[in-house]
Amino acid sequence: MSRLWIDCDTGFDDLVAIGLACRSDYTLVGISTVVGNTTLDNTTRNTLAACELFGLDVPVYRGAARPLAQEPQTIEGLLGEGGMGTRGKKLPAPKWQAEKKNAICALINALEEGPLTILATGPLTNLAMVVNLRPDLLDNIESIVFMGGSATTGNHTAAAEFNTFADPESLSVLLSAGAPLTMFGLNLTRQVMIQLHHEDDMRKVGTEMAEILADHIGFYLRLVEKENGKPMALHDPSAAAYLLWPELFEIADTHMEVELAGTHTRGETVCEMRVPRKGEPNAKLAVTAQGEKIMEKVMEILTETAAK
Ligand code: RIB
Ligand code: CA
Repeated sequence: MSRLWIDCDTGFDDLVAIGLACRSDYTLVGISTVVGNTTLDNTTRNTLAACELFGLDVPVYRGAARPLAQEPQTIEGLLGEGGMGTRGKKLPAPKWQAEKKNAICALINALEEGPLTILATGPLTNLAMVVNLRPDLLDNIESIVFMGGSATTGNHTAAAEFNTFADPESLSVLLSAGAPLTMFGLNLTRQVMIQLHHEDDMRKVGTEMAEILADHIGFYLRLVEKENGKPMALHDPSAAAYLLWPELFEIADTHMEVELAGTHTRGETVCEMRVPRKGEPNAKLAVTAQGEKIMEKVMEILTETAAK
């Protein structure tokens, strides 16, 4: 089976992506954390807590505490305490510890051992550092399936999605290095919507884990409409779902650039779809998703996991 590595900035949707990815046919060999949704300490603690919640005995490695070329910008204010807001029950504090080895060395070692598919659900800082340090290992990266960017509008700014806004240079490094990127941007993830009834569906499972997950689903649904909540795009799980059900997505070649200098557009991903006429393809872009079917399958896995 192909080997999988997850690089994440765990908040709620990263946690769901981890819960999905570990049910794929891939062998998960390691998880690295990065500053993004919240501080590196918090994303690492949240990742360890997610692994314990799912009974996932996989090494977790601390990665970059800062982006390549700007001050860290988190969205903890939006996402609640520790980046993992809840309507009630918190994730149990993790007993497990992160490995002593840092994520960059660990990912390099994993790539030295052979081919690896990488699921990235946060800013791409760690991956850029690995590629900068060991460009010879690029051939061992089978694919980088990442949640980030947008072929349409942004979410953190009018133009930029949060992950690419948080470290645009890291995406630029990977594009320049010719890394095999498949982007799950907002244009795609907005087709995969978690609905209000999914909180109730989870609560009905009736276990402690279901209660914890339902309280986090409920908080996520209320990120924008604080009172009653509203359907929300399920970003990171959309990328993870591709590892399980690629047939539910349409992927196209694109020529992609990331804006580094724009006053109002820094972090924007510009996806030229008129390839090859107007640009040589340098990445793949997820363009459509069977959102309802994907959500059905995501909830099937989550409720099954919670029922154990
Ligand atoms: O824009 C959505 C992305 O930003 C997701 O990865 C979410 O976890 C946050 O990191
Ligand atoms: Ca994320």
